[in-house]
Amino acid sequence: MTGEAAELREAARAVRERAHAPYSGFKVGAALRTGSGAVFAGCNVENVAYPEGTCAEAGAIAAMVAGGGTEIAAIYVIADAPEPVPPCGGCRQKIAEFAPGDAVVTMATTAGAERVMRVSDLLPGAFGRGHMEGA
Ligand code: THU
Repeated sequence: MTGEAAELREAARAVRERAHAPYSGFKVGAALRTGSGAVFAGCNVENVAYPEGTCAEAGAIAAMVAGGGTEIAAIYVIADAPEPVPPCGGCRQKIAEFAPGDAVVTMATTAGAERVMRVSDLLPGAFGRGHMEGA
C-alpha cells in the first residue's frame, strides 16, 4: 500500500469513530483525495426521521465541496462488516458527479479486507450531464 492509500485509510478509520448511527448501529467512514491532493472525510449521520440520514460518502463529498475541492481522484469507505461495503446506489451517483470513471474506490472492513473498483465499474451507464443536452 502506498503512503497516499494508507493516509486515506487512516482518515476514513478515524472519521468512522465519529459517525452518528444510533438507529442502525452501523458506523461508516469515508475519506477522499482530490486531484490536487487534498484529503476530506465524512461519516454517516443518521436522524430519528430515518430518511433524513446521510451516508459517509455524502459527508466526505460535502466537506470537499465546502473546502473548495472539485474532483475526486480516490475514495476509501470503511465499515465493521463481514465484507467490504459498497457505496449505496445514491452515493454511486454522487461520487460519479465529481469523479472521472477511472477514479479508484476502495471498500474496506475494519478487520482489514479491501476491495478496489473503478467508478465506471460501480456505476456503468451513469446518468450524466450529456443526457440533458438539448433539453
Ligand atoms: N451507509 C453509509 O454511510 N455508506 C454506505 O456506503 C452504506 C450505508 C450508512 C447509511 C446508514 O446510516 C447506515 O450505513 C446503514 O445503512
